[in-house]
Amino acid sequence: MEKNVLFPQVGGFLHGGDYNPDQWLDRPDILEEDLRLMKKAGVNCVTLGVFSWVMYEPEEGRFNFDWLAGIMDRLYAEGIYTILATPSAAHPAWLDAAYPSAVRAGRDGRRCRHGGRVNTCWSSPEFREKVKIVDRKLAERFGSHPGLLLWHIANELGGECFCPLCARRFREYLARRFEGDIGKLNRAWWTTFWGHCYSDFSQVEPPYSDGESSIPGLLVEWKRFTTWNIVDFVKTEIAVFKERTPQIPVTMNFMSFSEKLDYRAAAKELSLVSWDSYPAFHNDRETLYDTMAETAFYHAVIRSLKPEKPYLLMECTPSVVHGMSYNKQKRPGVHRLACLQAVACGSDSVLYFQWRKNRGGCEQHHGAVVDHLGTADTRIFREVSQVGETLSRLSRAAGTVTCARTAMLVDWDNRWALNEGHLAGKETKEYVRTCMTIWKEFFRHGVEMNVVSSEADLSGYRIAVAPMMYMLRPGTAANLKRFVENGGQLLATYMTGYVDEHQLCYLGGFPGDGLSQLFGVISEELDTLYPSDRNRIRFEDGTEWEVFDYAEVLRVGTAEVQGVYAEDYYKGGAAVTCNPFGKGKAWYAAARVAPEEMWTLFEKMLGECGIPARRLPQGVEYHQRLGEEGTYDFYLNWTTEPRAVETGPGRELLTGRSAGEGAWELEPYGAAVVLRETPRGGAPDPRIATDANGWKQE
Ligand code: GLA
Ligand code: ZN
Repeated sequence: MEKNVLFPQVGGFLHGGDYNPDQWLDRPDILEEDLRLMKKAGVNCVTLGVFSWVMYEPEEGRFNFDWLAGIMDRLYAEGIYTILATPSAAHPAWLDAAYPSAVRAGRDGRRCRHGGRVNTCWSSPEFREKVKIVDRKLAERFGSHPGLLLWHIANELGGECFCPLCARRFREYLARRFEGDIGKLNRAWWTTFWGHCYSDFSQVEPPYSDGESSIPGLLVEWKRFTTWNIVDFVKTEIAVFKERTPQIPVTMNFMSFSEKLDYRAAAKELSLVSWDSYPAFHNDRETLYDTMAETAFYHAVIRSLKPEKPYLLMECTPSVVHGMSYNKQKRPGVHRLACLQAVACGSDSVLYFQWRKNRGGCEQHHGAVVDHLGTADTRIFREVSQVGETLSRLSRAAGTVTCARTAMLVDWDNRWALNEGHLAGKETKEYVRTCMTIWKEFFRHGVEMNVVSSEADLSGYRIAVAPMMYMLRPGTAANLKRFVENGGQLLATYMTGYVDEHQLCYLGGFPGDGLSQLFGVISEELDTLYPSDRNRIRFEDGTEWEVFDYAEVLRVGTAEVQGVYAEDYYKGGAAVTCNPFGKGKAWYAAARVAPEEMWTLFEKMLGECGIPARRLPQGVEYHQRLGEEGTYDFYLNWTTEPRAVETGPGRELLTGRSAGEGAWELEPYGAAVVLRETPRGGAPDPRIATDANGWKQE
């Protein structure tokens, strides 16, 4: 099994980030200094051109790439590679003035004015045409540059457009989806309610702020359409490169877990995925460990888009973010630890926004490697250089991947449906937070968990957790049944299987689409509790879990009752059940409880599947990457106290020392990376045997 090294020419992890020399072209001294400092900081890769359209094309049809060519050549001569962005995130002013259709319209239908970035109408044919032209020029000029690693499409794409053209494309999209039959749309959207029936597709409108917002099927379809339209736009950009530079991979930089774009649809078009991470370090509402657990969840979301290969951390800040409510400095050592976290989770890069702070512009105070002070003699620069050095010590691990045998099923459709749905509590649904806190319970015990679609091939996983899977798309129920039948353990919760893909409620009992047979229960009522309400679930061994926010009243069929409610009119009624099904088990937790309380259940599931959990000291994070040469165990200490971990024998790569019999002391904000080599001639870890869909079951 070959490693999946993304960029063999680099030979290790990428370190560097967004470089915007276009702002300094009149300062050759600064550009020279940049090169010197990049070498000093261990930078081997920069991202160029993210917002450079107007520099490439100062007026329509007049192009100038010479400045970029000069810089790319100089960088390459110094051993620094380039990720080259397409400039479509930054409309030139001349373009928006000449082609007003390029600018998006807001929910009120009013066209926005020129300004900001990604202020784009995805449908505008004029804009698409202009983008294609500049992309073609870039591909022609730089496609065979030896320093070019990767195309980077636009920047953090997302957002809706409500212009007349997008409205028309929405109607066309609907006509295709409902096979030209308006009757199908009416039935799927249950438009007889409130007498909302359409007699023609031309009557359907996007959900304008002063228009239609009372048809759940329409609301979710508009979200799907927006993703479809953004991806359609991205495809027109990618097509240019597929044709002209098929040897160069393509990526997009996602945000943490944006609601605005279904990343899975976009990822299908990309060679590899990447994202931009900006946690609120040292905030006053949670521990740093908790903040970073959330960040680890986002890493898992991105990694799981293409679990068979590494992904890239495209942006992070070397010091402060700008523009959040508070912009606190990372304490000494925390930057390195956050970078190691990215690598531990499966990233093959640490890239920053940005290399040098701009003098003006709205991000002039956002942290950069080189400050306005302009020297290498700063704490931030030293910490960045230390990251460069750290990454080079770990370079063997580049191209290795993580192995998760547990999965969380999380869908954008479901998120949209729950957000738009008129049910339960307005404040307490909190789908993503609910997923994240359950995920964190596995994380806390060192169990790697991917975040995948309910339609994904689950054959490589032993455990699947599906929180609040309110909407079931076609095929989901069959997929879940197959998973359990083949020996998987599935856990679902309250609010599972209420509606189909059009937001039509299932008849004959929730969870619908035949899933009540899988779980052996029917959910008869959903009780939404006020924030101060509590109930309890009691288990036979005397354990109790505290219930808050949601409690479903169950009618039990074939399932075995594990725990019952202790109070209220459903006292004694089933709250946690388990239904053996085929070779596996389908668990149902009918009420919301703190995930820490559920650990006993998770531990049981893991134990039955032979997946080890770890006893980690409080505040310590653990991950593993696997390669044919062995396993890399990462231990990260997010506390200001030393922490002792049991690593097992191996070589600790940050210090180069042997881990001896396997006890290691982590310094405050310290880390250890222990390589356990596959014995020469020995078989590599069986989990290395992958197929295209991810990890094969052992
Ligand atoms: C985002 C963007 C960057 C920059 C940073 C910092 O991630 O992609 O262009 O704006 O945030 O704010
Ligand atoms: Zn539009």
